[in-house]
Amino acid sequence: MVTLLFTDIEGGIRLWEADPEAMAEASGRHNRIVGEQIEGAGGQVFKRVGEAFRAVFADPSAALASAVAIQRAAGAERWPPGLSIRVRVALHSGACVERDGDYLGPVVHRTARLLSAGHGGQVLVTRATYELLADRLPGGTGFRDLGEHRLQVLGRAERVFQVTGPGLAWRFGPLQSLDDPALRHNLPSQATSFVGRAAEFAELWALMSGGSRLVTIAGPGGIGKSRLALQVAAEALDGIGDGVWLVELAPVAQPELVARTVAAVLQVREEPGQPMLRTLAAAVGDRYLLVVLDNAEHVLGTAAELADALMRLCPRAYLLVTSREPLGVSGERVFRVPPLAVPPADVAAPRQLAAFESVQLFTERAVMYRQGFALDDANAAAVAAVCVRLDGIPLALELAAARLGSLSVQEISSRLDQRFRLLTGGSRTALPRHQTLRALIDWSYDLLNPEERAVLDRLSVFAGGWTLEAAEAVTAADGADEWQVLDNLAALVGKSLVQADEIRGVTRYRLLETIRHYAADRLARRPGPELDKTRAAHRDYYLALVETADRHLRGPDEAAWLDRIEAEFDNIRAALAFSLADPASAEPGLRLASGLHRFCTMRGHGSEVLQALSVLLERPDAQKPTRIRARSLTVRCHLLDYLGDDPAPSSMAEEALSIARDLAEDADAADALAQLCWLSFERGDLPAALAHVDDAVGLARRAQDPRLIAYILSRRAVFSSEAGDLDAAFADNREAITLSRAAGDNYRLVTALANLAIDEQTTGNLRAAREHLQEASTLADKSGYQNLSGVLRQNLGLVDLIDGNARSARRHFLDSLDTARITGVTSYRHGALLGLALAAGADGDPAIAATLHGVADEHYEQAGRAFEALEAGLRDRDHAQLRATLGDAAFEAAYARGRTLSQADAITLASAAAGPGPAVASASTVPAADPAITDGAAGLLSEREREILALLAGGATDAQIAGRLFLSVNTVRSHLERIRDKTGARRRPDLVRYAIQAGIEATAPSA
Ligand SMILES: Nc1ncnc2c1ncn2[C@@H]1O[C@H](COP(=O)(O)OP(=O)(O)OP(=O)(O)O)[C@@H](O)[C@H]1O
Ligand SMILES: [Mg+2]
Repeated sequence: MVTLLFTDIEGGIRLWEADPEAMAEASGRHNRIVGEQIEGAGGQVFKRVGEAFRAVFADPSAALASAVAIQRAAGAERWPPGLSIRVRVALHSGACVERDGDYLGPVVHRTARLLSAGHGGQVLVTRATYELLADRLPGGTGFRDLGEHRLQVLGRAERVFQVTGPGLAWRFGPLQSLDDPALRHNLPSQATSFVGRAAEFAELWALMSGGSRLVTIAGPGGIGKSRLALQVAAEALDGIGDGVWLVELAPVAQPELVARTVAAVLQVREEPGQPMLRTLAAAVGDRYLLVVLDNAEHVLGTAAELADALMRLCPRAYLLVTSREPLGVSGERVFRVPPLAVPPADVAAPRQLAAFESVQLFTERAVMYRQGFALDDANAAAVAAVCVRLDGIPLALELAAARLGSLSVQEISSRLDQRFRLLTGGSRTALPRHQTLRALIDWSYDLLNPEERAVLDRLSVFAGGWTLEAAEAVTAADGADEWQVLDNLAALVGKSLVQADEIRGVTRYRLLETIRHYAADRLARRPGPELDKTRAAHRDYYLALVETADRHLRGPDEAAWLDRIEAEFDNIRAALAFSLADPASAEPGLRLASGLHRFCTMRGHGSEVLQALSVLLERPDAQKPTRIRARSLTVRCHLLDYLGDDPAPSSMAEEALSIARDLAEDADAADALAQLCWLSFERGDLPAALAHVDDAVGLARRAQDPRLIAYILSRRAVFSSEAGDLDAAFADNREAITLSRAAGDNYRLVTALANLAIDEQTTGNLRAAREHLQEASTLADKSGYQNLSGVLRQNLGLVDLIDGNARSARRHFLDSLDTARITGVTSYRHGALLGLALAAGADGDPAIAATLHGVADEHYEQAGRAFEALEAGLRDRDHAQLRATLGDAAFEAAYARGRTLSQADAITLASAAAGPGPAVASASTVPAADPAITDGAAGLLSEREREILALLAGGATDAQIAGRLFLSVNTVRSHLERIRDKTGARRRPDLVRYAIQAGIEATAPSA
């Protein structure tokens, strides 16, 4: 245990910029003062970068004395006039790893975080240091409790104290901690503390910051792979611009769902007709993010494919995988997790024992089961024996500690002894690690009463966690009353066999993977139909949930229900898989799949649901002309149409219609008939569509379902508008809008508003069109309809263009590209690129506009898309005007350049084209640097800074830049900090964009 003292000058880089000469003088004096105060107090400086010092102290009081002395001396110093030198100091204590004179591990990170949260003149300490110091403070010194602050994402918030005393300032602004809503991640918070692992952490950290983008944490079950990965991921968070994303693969039963599961977490939508992996890689693109693939062992092959694709296609994506076995792809770095350190036989004193990680974990968990538990002379030997016996396996230690509710440590130790002697045939040799864990789980299991065992076994059918309500429905299958279920669940949580996490006030339960396997195995070996009965109960519960949710979609509580289904999707998928395999009846499966229809169009997963539906509908027991068959056929048709490249065969909708008519189910008949009309329309048979759609409207009105009426009216409006009958279209759209508003169906409201606006645009009523598009767009954003948001923005852009407002149009097109990038749905990217070219043609540099037209044409061609009439007209006019302005040769040169430009560069160029007035650039040097930028801050960059930026733009990591330029990584980082200050670009993508704009050419790190 050591105490770290970190210190630096607040705003040091800015001070250097402002007055390098004065700062050079001040820096020398500052460094002398700080160095003397640290060494005078017995500390050792292990790292110094500029004015930042990192020092280590064996004695926390000495560290505190040194911190106070630094502040007092710095306060008394006469600094050069006009230079405000304000020193920050942070202290934190804990175990670190020392390597080659440097200190590593989470304690180091935390100290650095604390320092950057503080203000000049302040001395901050963590609770760990505070507790070491509280009763031995030098006279006059005290602590001011600043409360809890999140310095890190995982784990609990840190209690921070400010040192007070003579010569120290008292009042400061709030701490700059990490409670920053802008941080992007989905990491769960952990209910229990994280123990040790400083060396493992440091090694992993070094691997990743050294440029390894694919790291696999491997090791046997229960050894702590997932927990370690989460801890590393949380640390990475604050440097990674596009976030850190945990993807739990344990619940993914079929390998082909791996890419989909990752996509769902990253909110990438599936694109009709495209393999998910390709869409995903395109959406990740050059985003700077870390994905944690947790528990990949059962889907190794597809996880490897995914990793390989992301590594090849996404230069700034990092993957941290946990798995019992490595993926085995090239470029993978494998890190094998050792067990927690166990004490050797000759160590028995409590103080010495406490230095071993296994002992720390056992004691930390022991406190949860026995209040006031502490390592002392009486129990030390038994605790040590338990840790050794359990090989330092974290899961085994947790299960053993959970027995402290009813047994003493000594009793636990002697019982373990008996059991293990039995297992090893009385010999003293240790068991292989997986058998140790197995023996321990057996022991925990044997001590459960029969009911608790049955509940645990049944809980293994859940995939990805469950709620109390779900547990009641699924585990009480034998007629046990629900209170008993609750008691049993509580007992299992108490024995550490079930994990309980609180998420936004609701408790969600889950099984660790090793335990789930164990319980699933037990369930499968139970006699009779127990397994199938439990799965059926699980399926029925989620079927009911899906059907309830479906009634609430397209209504005021929609968002909450969408989230709920999304959160339960692993379970729903498992229920769907069981339905497919269930020979008893196809009906529940059909209901489940068709009940997901609305959810799929709004949130994705459509292909898997469609696939299940198709298989189920072919089954012999699904052929009876029932209402559910009719519904399922129509839904299949909807999904095929929504996802496929070709129109769905109309035979499905025809069969659905005839069944529904026979059964006099008006709503189902209306839906099927409307679908038939739509298919006719898509085939180009407008008269057929118009001939039957009135009948569909009539059926829907008879069924008195406002959402259905609104849906069919908006389809009819599309037909009328296509037929040139705009009055009819206006009337239908207006009624659809009124009905959707009243029903709270925002999705329909958005589409109806958009349709209305398009007709208004046609009639030249731009004002009304903009107003309605704006309302639709705001609503779509608010409701999270990303697929609609992109299209609406494009329409807004077109309206603005026609209205002569190129600047605002450009914003809309850029926004819609952003949405395409985030969702991975590329189907409207071409339109946005054309829009950007048109906007540049209207108010920008003609050469840039010509280049952007090259980009747009290239994208249209590559996607095999034709220009719509309106688009074609605007494009041709623009081409002609640009040719006239530039001359044919210059136009051709600029246009040809655009055909080779990457999309990212095109976006940069288009954004840069939004200057205050037309920029001057020669046609042959497109893309030219933005003059405002080359003449501005970029001129301030030194040669070295430009070199660094060029490498960074070429995708190099800090370490690679350092390697290329023969600098230390820290020097590179401080250069980058200066570049950030000069350019105002903070995140890596911003810096890259800046480099392109400033005409700094990217250098590949390997060149
Ligand atoms: N360093 C640690 N500090 C505190 N708890 C830990 C630590 N390592 C592991 N644990 C706990 O031990 C248990 C098992 O760990 P974890 O789930 O990470 O193992 P795993 O190797 O991922 O197992 P599996 O192969 O079954 O997925 C968990 O309850 C976890 O919280
Ligand atoms: Mg795991």
